[in-house]
Amino acid sequence: MSSWSESTQERATEIIARYPEKRSAVMPLLYLAMAEEGHLTDAGMEEVARWCEITPAQVRAVASFYTMFKRERTGRYLVSCCTSITCMLLGGDEVLHAVEDESGVPHGETDDEGMLSVEHVECIGACGGAPAVQVNYELIEGVSPTQARELVRWLKRARPEVVNSDEMQELFGARRSFDWGISEEHGAIGPYPAFQPLGTVGSEVSE
Ligand code: FES
Repeated sequence: MSSWSESTQERATEIIARYPEKRSAVMPLLYLAMAEEGHLTDAGMEEVARWCEITPAQVRAVASFYTMFKRERTGRYLVSCCTSITCMLLGGDEVLHAVEDESGVPHGETDDEGMLSVEHVECIGACGGAPAVQVNYELIEGVSPTQARELVRWLKRARPEVVNSDEMQELFGARRSFDWGISEEHGAIGPYPAFQPLGTVGSEVSE
């Protein structure tokens, strides 16, 4: 019997149905487990193992490889600042420090309220728009330290239900780089990626 909510179980069933083998659904199901409990727990990984018909050790091997699978409590908004070489050369460290200073949350930590987590990350594939920041994996390019502070204040004040790259780029970013993706109406509703069918607004699972 599953410990997941009915809606999470429905999502898990739909995700698994998309793959020829159940085990292939392990990564999206790990995000479901995170969404269900707020972070990834041993119980959550065991649940994923049951759904995917693999061992908990196999699930743990996947989960421990990727930094996006959070084992610690993560805030409603995960602010990730890139400090790899291109962003670093264009002020990524200053952007990170501005986020830490404005939020009062150092890298790797979450505030007491569970609202904001801050981390520095390696290259997030937006070097053409460096320095780059993500909120719940939604990208913002060309962020200055001042804009980073405004971003933090906005998250704390407005507490948006959904964060969306296009909107945040308009509010807090510079000119979009040449490789900015197509406009995306969906956004993230928690500290996990907003790709379907993880429960993004407007993406209620069905194809
Ligand atoms: S170095 Fe920051 S996005 Fe690539």
